[in-house]
Amino acid sequence: MSQLTDEISRRRTFAIISHPDAGKTTLTEKLLLFGGAIHIAGAVKSNKIKKTATSDWMEIEKQRGISVATSVMGFEYDGYKINILDTPGHQDFAEDTYRTLTAVDSVIIVVDVAKGVEQQTRKLMEVCRMRNTPVIIFVNKLDREGRDPFDILDELEQELHISVRPLSWPINIGAKFKGVYNIHEHSLDLFTPDKQKVTERVEIESIDDPRIDEAVGETDAAKLREDLELIEGVYPAFETEEYLAGKVAPVFFGSALNTFGVKELLDCFVKIAPSPRPVEAVERKISPEEETFSGFVFKIHANMDPNHRSCIAFVKICSGKFERNAPYRHVRSGKTLKFAAPTAFMAQKKSIVDEAFPGDIVGIPDTGNFKIGDTLTTSEELHFKGLPSFSPEMFKYIENTDPMKSKQLDKGIQQLMDEGVAQLFTNQFNGRKIIGTVGQLQFEVIQYRLLHEYGAQCRWEPISLYKACWITSDDQEALEAFKRRKHQFMATDREGRDVFLADSSYVLQMAQSDFPKIRFYFSSEF
Ligand code: G4P
Repeated sequence: MSQLTDEISRRRTFAIISHPDAGKTTLTEKLLLFGGAIHIAGAVKSNKIKKTATSDWMEIEKQRGISVATSVMGFEYDGYKINILDTPGHQDFAEDTYRTLTAVDSVIIVVDVAKGVEQQTRKLMEVCRMRNTPVIIFVNKLDREGRDPFDILDELEQELHISVRPLSWPINIGAKFKGVYNIHEHSLDLFTPDKQKVTERVEIESIDDPRIDEAVGETDAAKLREDLELIEGVYPAFETEEYLAGKVAPVFFGSALNTFGVKELLDCFVKIAPSPRPVEAVERKISPEEETFSGFVFKIHANMDPNHRSCIAFVKICSGKFERNAPYRHVRSGKTLKFAAPTAFMAQKKSIVDEAFPGDIVGIPDTGNFKIGDTLTTSEELHFKGLPSFSPEMFKYIENTDPMKSKQLDKGIQQLMDEGVAQLFTNQFNGRKIIGTVGQLQFEVIQYRLLHEYGAQCRWEPISLYKACWITSDDQEALEAFKRRKHQFMATDREGRDVFLADSSYVLQMAQSDFPKIRFYFSSEF
């Protein structure tokens, strides 16, 4: 095997996603502990912003700093190079999470055994389904009272629209929780709460082994056998191929806080999870094994120091080997760029790297060259697909309150939009700028950052909008007619594409039925 294929096959790049509080941060930290990447629990700070609208800004700033450090966590485990991409916990930053999902090859979904599938989990799963991303589910907090595991499995299937296959099975739950039977490997792990170390493992021959009865008692052993029989009857045998195709999600049970069931999850994950997969560009499919380098920017992070307007662009490597100081083509601008100080993220530390491989993320210090979705190549004209903007859910007019600073404001808005903080639409009728977000918090972050990083002041004015949708038509005349009829509600996005601003769902429905030749899109990728 060449060095490139060797490096590719040992890489696992994934994200852990969950509804806030299900245990994503705790699980991430425990995985890092196993990788030896950190040595004490509590080292990974949650980057979630717990407070909402009235949160104090220092908190947001602090959180932003933390989320740079924990944006990508790379570590070595058992010969594998693992890259965990962190996603913001707060739902107002969901768009950021969606984009991060374009840079991973698989995901682990954490579900709270008491709460089951929650709203955010459902939404994130939709994005995974759109991309056929393989998912593994970790049912967490078994040390607490929760639902019956069979009910949880049913709920996962119904709510997440994916077939599931348990690969481990809990013995009781909450106060009576005794451990987990590993269906995959026929072993029994006994639960010892609050032990940060390895759990006690009972090696067994088969499910009939009397050692199970000795370990958990006859009643629970009988119940376990009954449950397993039911599982084998109901769920088809696990096939890795089906998991890789995004059709079946293997399910593990455990307790992240107690480091219970985590190692089993990790061991199975490295074995079955995909190494970097081919990526679709507009022009063609790019295989990671291609010798020439290509990659795309999926995230831009502004630096903490407002005096230096520097950012870090996060580049996911799609093919070939990335090398420091090599000339790469920045496809959007046509410029050739060299990167003297690309950073890799290992165990929370940033360090300069000389080379990186498909599946890896490199951070490139940037002073405004990059936008989300930009492609870097060795020379080829490539554009990666799959970084959609979704129709925002909240809209406000942004107005300048300091006429002396209008330049700063424009620049600030432009750069924040390049970072993907929110979306900008310009009303074609009155030229006013509209900012669209998925949550209230983003408006506050924008206002704060404009002031502190650009010295620009703005205020928000209400606009009552239901949705912004991108429109196209094969019939140019029909398109023009629509735009004339709706001229007050037409805007352009930053790429100059036509966007229809519907002020109610009724108006949108009417427009859809009155103008059958017009196609309406709710994400910018079409
Ligand atoms: P998130 O990133 O998905 O938002 O969740 P996070 O890991 O921060 O976990 C949310 C809360 O759930 C934390 O408690 C955490 O300690 C707890 N937790 C995680 N895994 C388990 C588990 O297996 N069992 C139990 N009983 N609790 C678990 P917190 O009180 O909100 O935060 P903290 O003060 O402990 O940090």
